[in-house]
Amino acid sequence: MAEPPHRPSASVPTGSERRRIVFLGPPGAGKGTQAVGIARAHAIAHLSTGDLLREAVRRRTPLGAEANRYMNEGQLVPDALVLRLLQERMTAPDCRNGFLLDGFPRNAAQAEALEAIASIDRVIFFEIPESVLVERLTARRRCPKCGTLYNLVSRPPKRPGRCDLDGEELAHRPDDNEPTARARLRVYLEETLPLLEYYRRRGLLVGIDASGSLEAVEARIERALR
Ligand code: AP5
Repeated sequence: MAEPPHRPSASVPTGSERRRIVFLGPPGAGKGTQAVGIARAHAIAHLSTGDLLREAVRRRTPLGAEANRYMNEGQLVPDALVLRLLQERMTAPDCRNGFLLDGFPRNAAQAEALEAIASIDRVIFFEIPESVLVERLTARRRCPKCGTLYNLVSRPPKRPGRCDLDGEELAHRPDDNEPTARARLRVYLEETLPLLEYYRRRGLLVGIDASGSLEAVEARIERALR
């Protein structure tokens, strides 16, 4: 039976925590879904480079126009463009308590750039069988107004095509078609997966089982952050 859309847990932010967390995992592993609640619970900023890039595309900035070509092909956007967006975002006041990086770093050059600008205290690796990822991605829908994520298979909206919370028409990401999702997975395996070793050597990596209910995955992440 389908569960309702995920609501973040209501744990109390301490305010004194200054956490810098990285979520690492394949496309469709549930990083964005979990990042919302975990960032809120720890009172830190949720920094998704995918969201920053999509916002630049939506606003039709020159950077967005260039990034869009890569995103539509499932390829990584050039490091310099992503870093520029991210560094600007990190200066915002909501990053003062710390941040949760979702979708960054994606390759060795980005990991080295990150090391030069911030010291990371935990890297959570989402472990999930590859076989479920393409189905999760092609069935993903998102409310453009409130950002709530749905899944036509595992988490459908109550009213077809409409957000449960505000009734807005749900959107399908242009890169969530099957060929592009498979290209993103290939890029992940070639460029991002080697970062596991990079962070393991630094003693920062904790793997979590990212399958099962949203609540179960969230509890595993919280344990891994302790
Ligand atoms: P980005 O937006 O970062 O996409 P991604 O890494 O491919 O990750 P996704 O957002 O697809 O997956 P997710 O793990 O967040 O899964 P979600 O929670 O949504 O990047 C997009 C593009 O931007 C890249 O291809 C690249 O071009 C560019 N880009 C971004 N960052 C870059 C960088 N640093 N450098 C260069 N280029 C960059 O969940 C997926 C679905 O599963 C949802 O429908 C959800 O409801 C469902 N779901 C989640 N958890 C569960 C569960 N436990 N059970 C059942 N269903 C679940």
